[in-house]
Amino acid sequence: MTLIPELTILQPADKEAIDLPRTSEEELAVGKKRLYIESYGCQMNFADSEIVAAVMRNAGFATTSSPEDADLIFLNTCAIRENAEQKVRHRLKHLTGLKRQKPELLVGMLGCMAERLKTKLLEEEKVVDIVAGPDAYRDIPKLVEEAESGQKAVNVFLSREETYADISPIRLNSNGVTAFVSIMRGCDNMCSFCVVPFTRGRERSRDPQSIVREAQDLFDQGYREVTLLGQNVDSYKYSPPTPEGGVPDTPAAPPLGDGGLSFAGLLEMVARIHPDLRVRFSTSHPKDITDEVLHTMAKYENICNYIHLPAQSGNSRVLKLMNRTYDREWYIGKIDRIREILGEDCGISTDMISGFCTETEDEHQESLSLMDYVHYDYAYMFAYSERPGTLAAKKYVDDIPEDVKKRRLNEIIAKQLTHSAERNQRHIGQIQRVLIEGPSKRSEDFLCGRNDQNKMVVFPKGALQKGQYVNVLVTECTSATLIGEVV
Ligand code: SAH
Ligand code: SF4
Ligand code: F3S
Repeated sequence: MTLIPELTILQPADKEAIDLPRTSEEELAVGKKRLYIESYGCQMNFADSEIVAAVMRNAGFATTSSPEDADLIFLNTCAIRENAEQKVRHRLKHLTGLKRQKPELLVGMLGCMAERLKTKLLEEEKVVDIVAGPDAYRDIPKLVEEAESGQKAVNVFLSREETYADISPIRLNSNGVTAFVSIMRGCDNMCSFCVVPFTRGRERSRDPQSIVREAQDLFDQGYREVTLLGQNVDSYKYSPPTPEGGVPDTPAAPPLGDGGLSFAGLLEMVARIHPDLRVRFSTSHPKDITDEVLHTMAKYENICNYIHLPAQSGNSRVLKLMNRTYDREWYIGKIDRIREILGEDCGISTDMISGFCTETEDEHQESLSLMDYVHYDYAYMFAYSERPGTLAAKKYVDDIPEDVKKRRLNEIIAKQLTHSAERNQRHIGQIQRVLIEGPSKRSEDFLCGRNDQNKMVVFPKGALQKGQYVNVLVTECTSATLIGEVV
C-alpha cells in the first residue's frame, strides 16, 4: 500500500484502492456479466462495496479482479479531502483509455464523491455513465439497465431509513478471519471541516437483530473478529419502529428498555455471541462515548481494549471553531476516565488536523501537548483541506499557508512516531494474545495478527494457521509492529 503524500502513517480513509480477489465463484460465473469494484476512503466505503457486490450478484453480475475483464466498473469514492477526489479523477483518466478500447464498457461512480458532485460529475467526466450515492445502492441494477440502453443514470437521494439491514454482504478481499459490520449510517454532528454529513446524510441505526445475525453468521463461517462500523458508533440508538416489531429475539439480547437500545447494549449483544469472537468498533466521537460503554468493554474479555477517539485539535478555541462540541479539558477528562476504567494498557488512537482556519502557532503547540498528555498508540494525521459546502468553507477563511500546514503536520507526525514507538516498547517482554490473520508481508516464514490493542504482531509461522489465537512473547518492536515468538 502506498501512502498519500500528507501522511506517513496509513489512514484507512486513504487506503489504496483494493481489487477483488478472483474467487472460485468467479471462476464458475461463466457467461455472466462481470463487475469490477474499486473502493476508496474509509472502512464504511469498503463495507458498502460488499453490499453493492451482493445487490449486483442478485442482478446477475459476477465480480472480477481485473478491470480489463469487466463489463461494468464501479469506483466507490471518497470526498473527505481534496486529494481523495484527485486520486479518483486520475483513475478516471485511465478508465477513459480502457473504454476507448472497449466502447460497451460502463463506468459507475458510487460513494461520497458521487453524492457530493451529483450530476456535475457527468458533465465533468465524460467517461462516467452511472452516478449513485451511498443510499441508492438497491437501485443500481435499474441504473445499470438505463445505462445499457444508452442513457446516463443518476440516483443521489439520501434516505432517513436505509441501513441495508437485510442484505448479506459479499466479503471482498477477505482474509476469512476479520470482517466489518455496519451498525449505523450517516452523521448528525456537523463538524465544520467535514463533508460527511452532506455525503452520507442523517444518522440512522440498523436493527440489532440483523447485526447480531450477521456477526453470528460470520462466526459460524470461521471469522473470529468483527469491527462494528459507523461514523459515530457511540450514538447508535435503536428503537423498534412499531411496538410489535424489531425486538431482538436472540438469547444474547438484553431487553430493550423504553429508551431503545444503546451502543453499550449492542456491544454486549455482539460480545455474547461467543468468547472467541473478538469485537472492535470505530469510530467513537469523544462527546458520545459513555461510561456504560467503557464498563461493557471492561466486562467482556473479547471486546478489544482499544478506542479510536479522534481529538482533531488540542486547543479549545480551535475545537469550538471545528464545532466538535467538547474542549481540551473535557477531552482530557474522557482520556482519564478511559485509563481509570480500562487501565493504562488500553490502546487509544486519534485523528489530528493541522492548520485549521486561523490556528495560531501557540494553538498548534497545544495539539502537540495534548499528544504528550495522552501518548496515543496511533494517529491518523492530516493537513486541513477545505471542502466546498461545509460550515468552515462558508464561515471561515482557509488562511494557513500550505507550507505552514505541512510543517505543523510534520511536527505532529514526528511526535506521534516517538509515542507509537514508546507505547509499543511497553509490550516488550509481555505475552500478547494474538488472532492470526495470515502470512506476514515481510516473509513467507512469518505470520501476523493483532493483539488486543490493535497492534500488528509478527512471529514465526510454525504449524499455526490463520483464525487461531496464539500467545506471543514480544521480543522487539518498531513504531509500527511488534515482533515476537510463540510461547
Ligand atoms: N466520524 C469520524 C471521522 C470521519 S473522517 C470522526 O468523527 O472521528 C476521518 C478523519 O478525516 C476525521 O477525523 C478528520 O481528522 C479528517 N478530516 C475530515 N475532514 C477533513 C478535512 N476537511 N481536512 C482534513 N482532514 C479532514
Ligand atoms: Fe465528520 Fe464530525 Fe461526523 Fe466525524 S463526527 S463524520 S468528523 S461531521
Ligand atoms: Fe470518505 Fe465518505 Fe468515508 S467522504 S472517509 S468515504 S464517509
